[in-house]
Amino acid sequence: MAINQLMKEKVLQDFQRNFDEEPTIVRSPGRVNIIGEHTDYNNGFVLPAAIDKAVYVAVSRRNDDAIKLYSGEFDESFETSLKTLKPTDKGWPNYILGVVDQLIKRSYPIRGFNLAIDGDVPIGSGLSSSAAVECATVFALNELFKLGIEKKELPFIGQKAEHTFAGVMCGIMDQFASVFGKKDHVIKLDCQSLDYEYVPLVLEGYKILLLNTNVKHSLGSSEYNTRRAQCEQGVAWVKEHHPEVNSLRDVNMEMLHKYVQPKDEVIYKRCKYVVEEKERLLTGCEDLKRGDLKALGKKMFETHDGLSKEYEVSCEELDFLVDAVRDNPDVVGARMMGGGFGGCTINIVKEEAIDGLIDQLEESYRAKMGMDLSAYIAQIENGTSLLS
Ligand code: GLA
Repeated sequence: MAINQLMKEKVLQDFQRNFDEEPTIVRSPGRVNIIGEHTDYNNGFVLPAAIDKAVYVAVSRRNDDAIKLYSGEFDESFETSLKTLKPTDKGWPNYILGVVDQLIKRSYPIRGFNLAIDGDVPIGSGLSSSAAVECATVFALNELFKLGIEKKELPFIGQKAEHTFAGVMCGIMDQFASVFGKKDHVIKLDCQSLDYEYVPLVLEGYKILLLNTNVKHSLGSSEYNTRRAQCEQGVAWVKEHHPEVNSLRDVNMEMLHKYVQPKDEVIYKRCKYVVEEKERLLTGCEDLKRGDLKALGKKMFETHDGLSKEYEVSCEELDFLVDAVRDNPDVVGARMMGGGFGGCTINIVKEEAIDGLIDQLEESYRAKMGMDLSAYIAQIENGTSLLS
C-alpha cells in the first residue's frame, strides 16, 4: 500500500509534540469515481476507487471525557468534551466530532481521547477529504476503545456524521470507497442492496489524471441538498401512479415523461440525468471489463454534459477543463467528479502525453481563469488501515 511515510511521520510528530504519548495511527484514503455521479443517494450504482492520497490520524486514550484535537494542516488545536459535543464554526473538527456523536448515539462505550490529524488529500478538491477524515476517525476509535464495530458499519457512521455535523446529505459512495478500496481495482457498488464487486482497473498505457480547478464554490453543500430533494420530489410524483417505486433506481424515462415533465421542467431534467447515468454506469463498467477505454471515455464526456447542462452542478472552471481536452486524441474521457461546483476533473490520458498536456492546460487555465491549476496522477490503493 502506498503509505506516505512522510505524512505518517508528520502526524506522529504532531501528536507527540501536543500529547507526548505512543499513539494508534490510521490511514484512510480519498477517492476517485470513474462514472456514476449523483447516483448513490438515488439507490443506483457507483464505480469509485480509493487513491494514494489519504488522511492520517494518530489517537490515544484519555482517562477523562476531554477530546483534544490538533490539525497539522491548519496548525490549530480544538478542545471539547464528550458531554458538550456540538458542531463548531471552525470547520475541520466537525468531521471528527460528528463521528464521536454517532458513536455515543449508538451507545458505544467511548472515553476522552487525544487526536492529531494530517493528510495529503487536497481539501475541497472533490476527492472526499471529509469522508477520509470520518473513516480514519471511526476506524481509529474502533481500534482504540475495542468497540467491535464491524467493517461494513464504518462507512455508515461516517456518512451520518457528515449529515449531522457538516449538514451535507451525502450518499454512501465516498465513505464506502475510503473503507473498502482495493489496490488497482474499482468498486462496483450497488447503493440499494450494498452488494459490491471489485473490478480490475486495467488502463494499458493510460493513467488517471486529476486536474484540480482549485475552486470550491460556496453553493456546493446547499445545492447538493437541493438536488437530492429534487430527485425525491420526482420520485414522489411517479409514486402517485406506481406505488412500487421507491427511488430513481425504479424509474424509467417513460415514467418521467408522463408524470414528472408536465409538472416541472427543472425536476424533470434532474431526474432524466440520473436515469440516464444509471444506464451509463452499467454499460461503462462493461466497457471497462472488456478493456474498451474509448467507449468508457465517451460515456464520461456524456456524464459531464449531463452534470453540466441537466443536473447543473458544474461551473465555468470545470467546463473549461473538460472542453479543453474533448478533441484531444490522447484523452479518452474526462468529466467533473464528485458533488460539483469546483474540485477536480477526472481524465483518462495516454501516459506519454500527460506531461505535455499538463503544461498546456496550466498555461491556458491561467490565461482564461487567472488561477493556477494543480495536476495529480492518481494511483489506486487499498482502503482504511491501521499503520501502528
Ligand atoms: C459527494 C457525495 C457522494 C456523492 C457525490 C456525487 O461526493 O459525498 O455521496 O453523492 O458527491 O456523486
